[in-house]
Amino acid sequence: MIKTNVKTEKLFQHKTPCLILFCTEGKKPAGDLKKIDQALNGPVAAAFKEKRFEGKPNQTLLLNARGAMKADNVLLVGIGKPKEATEENLRQAAGTAANLAENSQFKKVTFYLAEGELEKTLTKDKKQSSGEPARAVVEGSCLALYHFDQYKSVEKGEEPNRIEEITLLSNSRSALAKIKQASERAAKVVEGVYQARDLISQPSNTATPSFLANTAKKIAAKHKITCKILGEKEMKKLGMGSLLGVAKGSHQPPAFIILEYKGGKKNQAPIAIVGKAVTFDTGGISLKPSANMDEMKMDMSGGAVTMGTLQAVAAMKLPINVVGLIPSVENMPGGSAIKPGDILTAMSGKTIEVLNTDAEGRLILADALSYAARFKPRAVIDLATLTGAVIMALGNFAAGVLGTDEGLIDNLKASGTLTGERLWQLPLWDEHDKATKSDIADLKNIASPGVGAGTTMGAAFLKPFAGDQPWAHLDIAGTSWGAKKPYIPKGASGFGVRLLVNFLEQEARGGK
Ligand code: BES
Ligand code: MN
Ligand code: ZN
Repeated sequence: MIKTNVKTEKLFQHKTPCLILFCTEGKKPAGDLKKIDQALNGPVAAAFKEKRFEGKPNQTLLLNARGAMKADNVLLVGIGKPKEATEENLRQAAGTAANLAENSQFKKVTFYLAEGELEKTLTKDKKQSSGEPARAVVEGSCLALYHFDQYKSVEKGEEPNRIEEITLLSNSRSALAKIKQASERAAKVVEGVYQARDLISQPSNTATPSFLANTAKKIAAKHKITCKILGEKEMKKLGMGSLLGVAKGSHQPPAFIILEYKGGKKNQAPIAIVGKAVTFDTGGISLKPSANMDEMKMDMSGGAVTMGTLQAVAAMKLPINVVGLIPSVENMPGGSAIKPGDILTAMSGKTIEVLNTDAEGRLILADALSYAARFKPRAVIDLATLTGAVIMALGNFAAGVLGTDEGLIDNLKASGTLTGERLWQLPLWDEHDKATKSDIADLKNIASPGVGAGTTMGAAFLKPFAGDQPWAHLDIAGTSWGAKKPYIPKGASGFGVRLLVNFLEQEARGGK
């Protein structure tokens, strides 16, 4: 994690290699920006006039300030129109500025947060702004500066530039405490996202189910979390035939990871988070085509996000009880692998005709959802890179959400909008349920050709396993990998950690 500080000082007195200011869209510079422009002899007004910089979202202008103020350089970044700009705009702008600064070889940057300014400028829509701009700035900048470089050798002297320190500068001593608190909270969330990204980026020859189990144990040991791992033997005893069926094609033993964080009252029902963790999805005997198959190392994103979320929630000491359940397997076409037509018996007793071994995520989640019921949770939320169809429907721009509890779905959607981890609801109707019925077993794991509705059919399959638990399913296949945003570097996004942390913060506060 990048070092973050807060400081109170006059704008012109602050010494930094790069001072970053957020600017709203307009015709000419105003306020602090006008003062800076005057000190620098008008380069900002000129840029506005020539439409090189007008404060539009993620527009930037880098100026040399040497001599005019204590800062060496000033970097302006746009957040869009006043009263319309959202915290997501701010997060993206902070990410844009951080990326530019790092590429410009700066090692330290300062973000200037004038007292009350951003709060006044951002939209009043509570769904889009929480009133914690400092948190958005730390999240946006630190998330942008994430690097997965563990496997890259560097020649001496050829090390890429890295920003080592971020300062939040305030002009008011009284505002500092709030900024400090928000920035500390943000750092904990960022570390949770980093944890998720690290695991997702890790190749599958390292990140096996056992590796995920060991990582979960390490996270638990560092925080107030308990961790239990069920191995093959225990799962057999529980009758998890659906999960074990998927594991059969691989030499890697499966693992069922159980994390428990008890920050709430002892007898308070927990919220269960269930994360799909297929450490590599070849498709099994229904083998995937080879193009881009490497990306299927990300098929454990749901599990990684579950771990990152529990870590963040424990670090923040949220007063709430949360259980993380992570079924983990490798989906391989080995000699013992399940084959199309095979029938598995799930923990719930339901029989499943496996018509496509590539629809494996729902098979492992089925048993995990049954297991969740043991905790008598007040809500179950599963996250899974479940279907390619959700990418067809929503691209990288939103995750699909479906389930049996509209109130729960609404709350998750609200957290999604606020955090910029957007959710879009898809229907789950009786007709879909009917299309999961098999001719010779209780269920089949894919619908007949022509039914379509791939993402909904994944959820419809899971529904009987969720049973009467209030349940929401997040299909993160499109948002977990390859999303394009200033604060998401190429590859893993860690989508879901910030959304769930926000949701759990609201729940801990007693709902919305
Ligand atoms: N892990 C995949 C879904 C996926 C696709 C994730 C692309 C990320 C990017 C999942 O296990 C899968 O293979 N789903 C199949 C389901 C089908 C066989 C019904 C799919 O979407 O093609
Ligand atoms: Mn698959
Ligand atoms: Zn999969």
